[in-house]
Amino acid sequence: MIIKRIKLITVLITIATSYSFAQTQRKPMNQLINEEFKFALEQYKVLAKNIPAGKTPQSFANGKPVNQDIKWWCSGFYSGSLWYLYEETKDASIKLEAEKALKVIEPNQTYTGNHDLGFMMYCSFGNAYRLTSEPAYKAVIQRSAASLATRYRPNIKSIQSWNKNKYWDCPVIIDNMMNLEMMNWASENGGSPKYKEIAVTHANTTLKNHFRPDLSSYHVIDYNPETGAIKRKATWQGAADCSAWSRGQGWALYGYTMMYRFTKDETYLKQAKGIAHFILNHPNLPADKIPFWDFDAPGIPYAKRDASAGALIASALLELGQYTSGSEKAEFKSVAETMIFSLASPSYHAKLGENGGFLLMHSTGAYPLNSEIDVPLVYADYYYLEALLRYKKWYL
Ligand code: GLY
Repeated sequence: MIIKRIKLITVLITIATSYSFAQTQRKPMNQLINEEFKFALEQYKVLAKNIPAGKTPQSFANGKPVNQDIKWWCSGFYSGSLWYLYEETKDASIKLEAEKALKVIEPNQTYTGNHDLGFMMYCSFGNAYRLTSEPAYKAVIQRSAASLATRYRPNIKSIQSWNKNKYWDCPVIIDNMMNLEMMNWASENGGSPKYKEIAVTHANTTLKNHFRPDLSSYHVIDYNPETGAIKRKATWQGAADCSAWSRGQGWALYGYTMMYRFTKDETYLKQAKGIAHFILNHPNLPADKIPFWDFDAPGIPYAKRDASAGALIASALLELGQYTSGSEKAEFKSVAETMIFSLASPSYHAKLGENGGFLLMHSTGAYPLNSEIDVPLVYADYYYLEALLRYKKWYL
């Protein structure tokens, strides 16, 4: 009885909060973006103090900074965020910190142990090169693309994500779509044409095998590396094999939007729009548009949110809006705007000096693994800053 009452009160509070959220007067977007970059500049000076030499920041949990070795898949996001901050503020000390962070991860360019080279080396060196035209940065990206290409498996027509282990033979995860950005870019900027061919082939295989009829995606497809046959469609970080893990849907949306940018192939645009409609029309997408960690998470509406999925989807929708028109474009822009306002609100946004120096709270990394639950995550900040910059560049 008491539990039922508590549940009822929680539901009423959630409805009231959503209603007051929808009613809240929004400040102009240009003001919000300016304030956010001023805040981030100061907040990231706090974060910088929490990173030991040779490490990259991951999170802040139980009152303590969490840092990782450079081979961790997220090692490029910190320098990437610093470059975004530099792009907007031109602050010299942030540029120095960004250069220092690049040096730390530079050895990754020859790493071939997993598929994450695109996340690690393009979010970091890609942004650095875009802003500085420094040839040494371009050389690192080209070397990284060559390393990632070693993981292409012709038999499965994909880049292998993780190495064979006791769970998987030859797994490819939906996240891998993100690594294709570096491959496309490398071919278009003086590298071998084979990198783009790999990207296109991988995107086509993923399109064929990872998606369900409603355009939600499986997380992991495990292949037979000899025959290319699908052994299993499964999850690693989602609620169930058949569920729609929220960040995975975000990777898919961002990935096919990006593939359209590089190829102008309408198939990718259609796929991206279909994924967007799956996400935006999902009955479990909350009023503030920040997804639960899985669209099918047990316990919705009490399940944990994933601010990183919100930031990532916002950024992707803003790019997709560039390739659409009319009411579709208006919808993508409007939902991305709501996501940004939500993330900038006290519900998700840290106070200066708190949250270990990260900008956003309430992300979920890997719920079923009991890892990174309801914490700040370095990539939530990265895609949030990217979304702010994209909004300013394309919509102001
Ligand atoms: N690429 C791993 C993740 O999204 O958690």
